[in-house]
Amino acid sequence: MEIKIISNPAEQECDILVVNLFEGEKTTQELANKYAIEEDKFEGKFGETYLLPTYGKQKARKILVVGFGKKDEFCPDKLRKATGKAIKKANQMEAKTVAFDYSGVDFCFAEQFTYGVGIADYSFDKYKTKKDKHVETVYVNANEDAVRRAEKITKAMKVSRDLANEPAQYATPSKLAEIAQGLGLDTKIYDKEECERMGMGAYLAVAKGSAEPPKFIHMKYSTPNPRKKIAIIGKGICFDSGGLDIKPASSMLTMKDDMSGAACVIGTMTAIKEFAPDVEVHGIIAACENMPGCSAYKPGDILTAKNGKTIEVDNTDAEGRLTLADALCYADELGVDEIIDLATLTGACMVALGNQAAGIVGNDDNLVKSVIETAKACGERYWELPMYEEYKESLKSSVADMQNTGSRWGGASTAGLFLKEFVEKTKWAHIDIAGVAYFDKAQGEFIKGSTGAGVRAMINYILK
Ligand code: BES
Ligand code: MN
Ligand code: ZN
Repeated sequence: MEIKIISNPAEQECDILVVNLFEGEKTTQELANKYAIEEDKFEGKFGETYLLPTYGKQKARKILVVGFGKKDEFCPDKLRKATGKAIKKANQMEAKTVAFDYSGVDFCFAEQFTYGVGIADYSFDKYKTKKDKHVETVYVNANEDAVRRAEKITKAMKVSRDLANEPAQYATPSKLAEIAQGLGLDTKIYDKEECERMGMGAYLAVAKGSAEPPKFIHMKYSTPNPRKKIAIIGKGICFDSGGLDIKPASSMLTMKDDMSGAACVIGTMTAIKEFAPDVEVHGIIAACENMPGCSAYKPGDILTAKNGKTIEVDNTDAEGRLTLADALCYADELGVDEIIDLATLTGACMVALGNQAAGIVGNDDNLVKSVIETAKACGERYWELPMYEEYKESLKSSVADMQNTGSRWGGASTAGLFLKEFVEKTKWAHIDIAGVAYFDKAQGEFIKGSTGAGVRAMINYILK
């Protein structure tokens, strides 16, 4: 799909002309005012739409009125969601050309508009013999640079969403490694033996139960005089069966998405290469599967992570933190200024925040605040969770330095405290995207499936 910038979208020949309506106000279109508002009492409540044919009276074949709700409650997030809704509707109607003529909106217009279009236009139909229909051209009057910038970001989201939607049978650790290697960055893939030599006993234990070999991926974007060095780490469990502590069938159903953090890192790296910022960026993924094969790691096993700390396995389903432990140690040794990890880490975070926000913790207040702010500005919601010392009590082991799970209560916080043990000298933030990475059903501008969580926030944070 292509976004074309034109000065007068209302005069454009098209299948659908989209206009907005704030409650109690009028639209820019006489026809819509007469039929939608006066005759049919369409009020313009947020999220509602009204479709009206023009019967050749106008250049647009149809007018779609999108409710923007109360003007004083309108915000950039609503602009994005309403735009997404219009695109979804246009796709359903098999429209090819859609012009947007919004009035009375200026803030972040081009950015959120483009995110809305790009997110809603996404579909995952590569395995369907009958392909989904898409709008071909969108016409809008908006700042061209801002549109093109946001387009690059939704393109990166698509890379990430495609990867996380891909079934685990294809999106294996080896496949992720192959994709990472093809990005044109400076990329190193470490195999099992090399990881053994590096002392990654926690990560390798998780990989043991699978026939798929683990791949530790390190992508690097460099620039001559970097103003800053950042490492982003993505949880890369290509399938999480739970291991010997096997999950119930219903919980396993979406576990191909347990590499959403990794998918975010790969998507982000593709855009970083295009934006070419004066920041050095490392993308790190400890990819493997968590399976209950005959050589699987077992409850009670004691593992030694890369930094020498020992971990008693209390539950093989708390595997993400084990793989992240070694990835964090590895990143901590790179001498970067900041480390950010993204992980579908805990069901507890999902219980706490639902699918409206990701949880965030870290060892540096400024970093955490800054990431939250950046995320908010581009339409992602991160909510800080506490990491009180007292939570650590439940991670105590009688035979090792710690165990891999704590109390059921406050599970997202104990997971954060566990990870903290593996970052000794770098500023670090951890984002738990368990609730936001994958939607069970269509929601707002998103279809069912992967959402590309973290991509917008990471790219914007790196470019900031
Ligand atoms: N991948 C899961 C977390 C998850 C759950 C992500 C639901 C997305 C949706 C993770 O590896 C896991 O199994 N966590 C356990 C930890 C527990 C054993 C301490 C959980 O949250 O139940
Ligand atoms: Mn698990
Ligand atoms: Zn997992």
